[in-house]
Amino acid sequence: MKKEKLEKLYDRIAQLTEEPYVTGVGNVDAKILLIGEAPGAREVKLGEPFVGQAGKILDEFLDILEIQREDLFITNVVKIRPFKINKRTGKKNNRPPTQDEIDIFSNILFEEINIICPKIIIPLGNTPLRCIMNDNTLTIGNMHGKLLKKDNVPVFPLYHPAATIHNQNLKGTYLTDLDKLKQIIGNI
Ligand code: URA
Repeated sequence: MKKEKLEKLYDRIAQLTEEPYVTGVGNVDAKILLIGEAPGAREVKLGEPFVGQAGKILDEFLDILEIQREDLFITNVVKIRPFKINKRTGKKNNRPPTQDEIDIFSNILFEEINIICPKIIIPLGNTPLRCIMNDNTLTIGNMHGKLLKKDNVPVFPLYHPAATIHNQNLKGTYLTDLDKLKQIIGNI
């Protein structure tokens, strides 16, 4: 039932974009919904969220939580890869999604959430945090590791796993947040 609903929902993405898109994947009955920003090159190539460099770090964090990917549903706010052409190399480089791109895909995300009906939503970084909470003034720096609520569903924001690549100091913060999340998940 949920699977068919999701398939119908994802079929609608083709009407929104001509770019290749990456849908959510995972256990449709999962209690935990993880939301990233947008797919990168590898995700588009393999058609799955978080299968590139950020995905490797995510897997390390899931190990700490003692959670398998099969226990989760993972998706992104924006379902296409936002890119810009590097003038020097002519290659595609990732860029953050624009507000327009976020607005185009946010309805799909909200419908995904309604279908999955998770017990907890984990936004990874600013883009999913702001989209879920419908508040562009929020920052992950202020909200990470805090238990929020949206429409009565618990929301626990974490830094985007890729943030730890650029800022090793965040690892400790991340571990503290994961510790807290582990306890929360144990009680849902
Ligand atoms: N970063 C994201 O936010 N999502 C992905 O799927 C991959 C990297």
